[in-house]
Amino acid sequence: MASTVFIAKESAAGEPRVAASPDSVKKIVALGLNVTVQKGAGLASQIPDSDYADAGAKLGTATAAKTADVVLRVRRPTDAEIKAYKKGAVVIAIMDPYGNEKALAAMAKAGLTTFAMELMPRITRAQSMDVLSSQANLAGYQAVIDAAHIFDRAMPMMMTAAGTVPAARVFVMGAGVAGLQAIATARRLGAAVSATDVRPAAKEQVASLGAKFIAVEDEEFKAAETAGGYAKEMSKEYQAKQAALVADHIAKQDIVITTALIPGRPAPKLVSKAMLKAMRPGSICVDLAVEHGGNVEGAKAGSVAEVEGVRIVGYDNVPGRIAASASQLYAKNLVTFLDTLIDKDKKVVSIDPEDELVKATVLTDGGKIVHPNFGGPKDQKGDA
Ligand code: NAI
Repeated sequence: MASTVFIAKESAAGEPRVAASPDSVKKIVALGLNVTVQKGAGLASQIPDSDYADAGAKLGTATAAKTADVVLRVRRPTDAEIKAYKKGAVVIAIMDPYGNEKALAAMAKAGLTTFAMELMPRITRAQSMDVLSSQANLAGYQAVIDAAHIFDRAMPMMMTAAGTVPAARVFVMGAGVAGLQAIATARRLGAAVSATDVRPAAKEQVASLGAKFIAVEDEEFKAAETAGGYAKEMSKEYQAKQAALVADHIAKQDIVITTALIPGRPAPKLVSKAMLKAMRPGSICVDLAVEHGGNVEGAKAGSVAEVEGVRIVGYDNVPGRIAASASQLYAKNLVTFLDTLIDKDKKVVSIDPEDELVKATVLTDGGKIVHPNFGGPKDQKGDA
């Protein structure tokens, strides 16, 4: 019998996203699988139940999860939700596994085969499954919109009969996926944009978007990118030089958007209280790294803090602030990955443990934690 996929309604407060769109449901149905959407799952992302039904899904309550072979979610299920899933079910979500080993153990104990979408390798084949990119891109856009919303001045230069309004100066710190989209968005609104990063590859990307690149370009900078394209933690000496350069520049900015992250480490502190004090009244910082400890001193997760006269925007779950778009892209990421886990002839789940995408993302299987980063065997093949 064809496998059944259950789309859960998210239970976490402040999570308006959903793991399927009408389009992704159509794709799953086209694979020959059955789809049940939990009633109301898409409402906070502006998707009515009827759109899912029109796409070929059944509508059900939470108890329908009991018969599902695959559960698609945005966030890791709670312990109560886990109990409602059948043993051997596949659960795919943004699992937030680091520091949550207890929750992983509970999923293992329940006999679930779980996958963490954020561990998807950043290789060409998996580009359309890359949730970090799809969600960070929207977060970068939304950060500029959030800043513009509370900014008391205009973003573009305006020359009027009553005088000239200067363009807002926007400085983006961290020019990865989110930062590059923030640069592009601020440019579209007419701001004068500059940006910094510690990876040399970022220099050209920033310039190609028409922004000015600002960085300490010493020998350490030239070697700062890992093979995976990520930043390394910089030395104390580099950080001091960077802080001196940034302090000067920041004093002249209206809006600072920080996105700097180092995988597996707390976010680097880039903007100090002294730097905030040097900014003009009415200036704004948007700290997209706030859930990882923050780039800005005094940033508070989930709120707008005021420090030295600067408003520091530290909203949680920024992709969730643009939920309809975020859900649409996340659903596409999920269905593209799900497609690789299906036996197309038998129309059932069939996981190849040797697939590099499976190896990179599978957290629990067969009653155990299997991912090497969370206590699973270092070599999953069991070779010597
Ligand atoms: P991220 O979210 O881990 O970090 C954001 C940015 O902060 C990065 O550009 C990083 O270099 C920067 N940063 C870290 N410490 C800093 C500091 N002290 N000062 C200033 N900036 C600092 O990175 P993200 O956005 O996930 O991607 C980073 C890179 O990964 C991309 O630019 C790209 O090269 C690569 N990538 C490759 C993909 C693929 O091949 N499929 C997909 C997405 C990204």
